[in-house]
Amino acid sequence: METESFERFDHQAVLRWYEKNGRTLPWRAKWPALAPAYHVFLSEFMLQQTGVKTVIPYFNHFISKWPTIFALAEAELDEVLADWAGLGYYARARNMHKTAQIVVSEYNGEFPHTEAELRRLPGIGPYTAGAILCFAFDQSAIVLDGNIERILIRFGGIDKPVKQVKPILQTACAEIFPPKQHADFPQALMDIASLICQPKSANCPLCPLQTHCKASRLKRPESLPVRAARQAQPIRHGKIYMISNSSGALLMYKRPSKGLLGGMLSFPTTGWDKSEQLEPFLQPHISHATQIGRISHVFTHFKADISVYHLQLEQLEVAGRPEGFHWAACQPSDWPKLMQKSYHLLQHQTGL
Ligand code: ADE
Repeated sequence: METESFERFDHQAVLRWYEKNGRTLPWRAKWPALAPAYHVFLSEFMLQQTGVKTVIPYFNHFISKWPTIFALAEAELDEVLADWAGLGYYARARNMHKTAQIVVSEYNGEFPHTEAELRRLPGIGPYTAGAILCFAFDQSAIVLDGNIERILIRFGGIDKPVKQVKPILQTACAEIFPPKQHADFPQALMDIASLICQPKSANCPLCPLQTHCKASRLKRPESLPVRAARQAQPIRHGKIYMISNSSGALLMYKRPSKGLLGGMLSFPTTGWDKSEQLEPFLQPHISHATQIGRISHVFTHFKADISVYHLQLEQLEVAGRPEGFHWAACQPSDWPKLMQKSYHLLQHQTGL
């Protein structure tokens, strides 16, 4: 595949389109103003794997609660995780907190300006490093996410799976960059990808790049990028036990900091996370539990099919309860989505 296909990529048309049609998002500034690196960092961690609409209220909440990187670095990790609840992929929140602490302790609160230094920070890969350098420091760094890849692949008429053409896309990315207004350019492309050149609907007549775009001449521009054969998601089976006491509180524990839903509050559970059995102190009780339903939940690399059980224990104390297990106040907004789903099932089935 030739890279000449990108010579006619009209960055000026992109920037003109952006002036008129770009989205106003709370973490953005319009060039020549630049967004604070802290805002870019927070938003990019949240936007890894999560859509713009979902992220906006979380971003606004984090910025008002922890307005500076110093405030975030001083926050308790548990509080950060509780406020992250619902966004999923909790390792992102732990890495974000760790990175904030390193930037404060080693860089006096100023993000470094080089890719090599940024990539040494937890949770910062090539994309996030590029986004910080470009959006906060106006560098012509390579910022290549799935949306920009789709635009480049369609523009160049590249009919190979994305994975095979990454190096071509990186070269193209450097080649199409405007000589100035760097910080706006990838964000303009993200908006074109989100508002016009969508995965299932290319809307070519609306696109500022249509004239020289190879895919727009195809009968179905949406046939690009070609999809690699999808592997079936494995299914894991598991159980969740919702154990309530006579005051209506629920037994919960904090999951180990490493691994799935790391550091988050959880009901006693087994199976889907490859654990084999419940904590021994619960074993004598669970034969009295009744199944109230099933839920499914999608993780990155598998689907979980989970049977949910309920059990009311009359006594407030559970003998031999290990540290960490406690009767929790009912605050679903602090819990990961999987636990929220189980709780909603319980409410629905039992009225608790
Ligand atoms: N996705 C990741 N970063 C983004 C940004 N700055 N604007 C819109 N979508 C994004």
